[in-house]
Amino acid sequence: MVLLAIESSCDETAAAVVSDVGAVLSSVVHSQVNEHAAYGGVVPEIASREHLARIDDVVARALAEAGVGVADVSAVACTYGPGLIGALLVGLSYAKGLAASLGVPFIGVHHIEGHLLAAAADVDSAPFVEPPYMGLVVSGGHTALYRFDGVGRSSLVGQTRDDAAGEAFDKSAKLLGLGYPGGAVIDRLAQRGDASRIAMPRSLRDRSHFDYSFSGLKTAVRTWVEKHRQSTGHDVAGQDLFDLAASIQEAIVDMLLHKAILACRRKQLSTLVIGGGVAANSHLRAEAVRRGRDNDIRVVVPPRALCTDNAVMIAMAARRWQALQRTSPLSLMAQADVAVDRAGDAVGPATVS
Ligand code: KG4
Ligand code: ZN
Repeated sequence: MVLLAIESSCDETAAAVVSDVGAVLSSVVHSQVNEHAAYGGVVPEIASREHLARIDDVVARALAEAGVGVADVSAVACTYGPGLIGALLVGLSYAKGLAASLGVPFIGVHHIEGHLLAAAADVDSAPFVEPPYMGLVVSGGHTALYRFDGVGRSSLVGQTRDDAAGEAFDKSAKLLGLGYPGGAVIDRLAQRGDASRIAMPRSLRDRSHFDYSFSGLKTAVRTWVEKHRQSTGHDVAGQDLFDLAASIQEAIVDMLLHKAILACRRKQLSTLVIGGGVAANSHLRAEAVRRGRDNDIRVVVPPRALCTDNAVMIAMAARRWQALQRTSPLSLMAQADVAVDRAGDAVGPATVS
């Protein structure tokens, strides 16, 4: 018997199959990046329609790759929030309908708890980690630090006051005409650049809180690009582009890790787990491990495929709720905006069988 998990909160339609003992049997992710690229960002209506068109196929492939049939599914899990409401509704309705038709338990998972638990998946010999730990979730929509003590026991430590770190990457890339999403492009260009050439601002450095701000960086990039255009008469290109990409990346990574390491030390947590799409960034991955070593903090960054949105992380959270005998009512609604400390509201009280 297996657990089937589904994720459809943003622009990835994903399904994963996990065995009774938690082994990952399959993970299928259909990315909608190509559908949204022309618009420079995720278009909610397109996302919903695309999820609807793909979900059947994505689930069928996940079951087939796991070598199981739908009759082997003993529980269905799905993200119920936060995210785009129309996108969430597609996965959630599908998951609830499937659970009802099979007569098996349904588990609604909070998307951020998923990211916090991506590091718990035992795939590709990824390091296995147990709570308590500090979680840094960095994506296109979120940038926050959480203390994680287990499912239903996450608490916010700090968060961005304006843009998410992924947005800072994407908006910088857009200014430079690099297309959407731009994080991975900046990562690639930065590898040929000198990060020390162009000074970029680091906001909210003070040690009195763990919040972030990335809007000043965005303004600095725009100002630099405009000045460059005025003085040279052309767009940023060649070595200038490599150096600017490296400088932007360096500033974002430095800001992220400065507060993350500070939070670990202050809250006396010796493990830092990083998740979300930006955790795919090569400089962040390397620098996090380096700073962790310097500060006696164990840094765990899951494989790239588990950092960006996927259903394995949803399965990891669902397994933990199941172990606590907690499942969700089929009346669970999709929620566009729900804080992670409310994750336990989605699953009913423990039922002792
Ligand atoms: O978690 P995710 O797949 O989707 C959500 O936003 O929930 O994260 C997408 C974000 C985008 O902003 C993208 O530019 C960024 O992750 N990203 C990266 C890299 N790969 C993806 N940012 C920096 N470096 C990368 N290699
Ligand atoms: Zn996400």
